[in-house]
Amino acid sequence: MPLFETVFQEKPTIVLEIGSAYSKIGFSAEAYPRFIISTEIESIKDVLKSKEKNIYDQTVDFFNKIFFNYLLVSPKDRKISIVESVLTPTIIRECFAKVLFQHYEVASVIFLPLHLVSISTLALDTALVVDLGYKEAVVIPVYSGVQVINAWQAQPLAAEAVHDEIKSNLILNGVKEEILSERIIEDIKVRTCFVTKMSRALSYRNNEQLQAAPDVEYPIEGSDVIKIPGLLREMAFEALFPEDNDFMGLPYIIIDAILKCPVDARKELAENILLIGGTSSVLGIKVRLRDELRKLLKSDIYKDRLYIDDVKFHSAPAKPNFTAWLGGSIYSHTDLISNSITRESYFKHPRIPDWTTYDSSITRSQG
Ligand SMILES: Nc1ncnc2c1ncn2[C@@H]1O[C@H](COP(=O)(O)OP(=O)(O)OP(=O)(O)O)[C@@H](O)[C@H]1O
Ligand SMILES: [Mg+2]
Repeated sequence: MPLFETVFQEKPTIVLEIGSAYSKIGFSAEAYPRFIISTEIESIKDVLKSKEKNIYDQTVDFFNKIFFNYLLVSPKDRKISIVESVLTPTIIRECFAKVLFQHYEVASVIFLPLHLVSISTLALDTALVVDLGYKEAVVIPVYSGVQVINAWQAQPLAAEAVHDEIKSNLILNGVKEEILSERIIEDIKVRTCFVTKMSRALSYRNNEQLQAAPDVEYPIEGSDVIKIPGLLREMAFEALFPEDNDFMGLPYIIIDAILKCPVDARKELAENILLIGGTSSVLGIKVRLRDELRKLLKSDIYKDRLYIDDVKFHSAPAKPNFTAWLGGSIYSHTDLISNSITRESYFKHPRIPDWTTYDSSITRSQG
């Protein structure tokens, strides 16, 4: 057989990261996803209220679009990597596997833990990974290449909370609710809002008079214009930093994740924080989080428990919204992919192992 035939026979693995708002799709060993598209599996957003059949049907349709309208490849006999959080509900994971094996007859599927693979983009093996996506902020520490699962923290502090804040504020300012579709609110957020400095947020909370950011006019449907108040532009992201007595804001859950780790791991984690997920692209978030965390480290609640002086952040070599996908693309090009679940083993044991039930006997090397 000529050499070029054997070289071109190995097709790249298809790498998918199906987020609750956006899916990142492409091929292994590439630096960027080929496409970032809206996730059209509505039931993913509210798994508890969804029926299994709905999730299955929507997944079949959505994967059909991914393979035949976007990636333009037949999934039959291809290897598939799915980058997902360890907190993904089992029903979703099992549904994806069922659709891929039964409907699309793929050769193998591997589920890669999102927080773990993200740090491979920096060639690190220890980091505190904070995923700020659409639904939730999920913090999972990774130490020496192992996710410290019992230290995970998650709160609904991400894009959705900010969107709710913008929507209710604009309605209060007299904007009609019908105009404010999810797409428009997201556009207003990305184009006009930012995270303000900690000192200014404190002053606003204490009702001090400050010169707010300038108002902006947002054109809508041709001639109409919505006024976006400067105060809203500055304060919309305060939804991620609630100051109530529950201590559940973003800085608190980050510190709590560190606190749940062994004492000798804490300093290293605090000095290797990696922010991923689209919401961490917003202007000012890193500085704000750094200041909030430094303040908390010195506060009465934590100063005698943590003994950490400072926090440091990494910058991944990719935009935050596809850092995890890039990690998946890197991993999928290594020998780790040989731990995938093959079609034969899936039909023998149609159960997908997760971190609580991992059993290597049900994954077989592709050879
Ligand atoms: N520059 C930006 N400023 C503010 N928000 C942004 C920016 N870029 C992207 N986003 C927001 O990031 C969110 C999507 O992030 P991401 O793709 O990580 O979510 P997801 O993976 O679908 O959600 P989840 O991880 O919760 O399932 C969107 O709400 C989008 O508006
Ligand atoms: Mg995500």
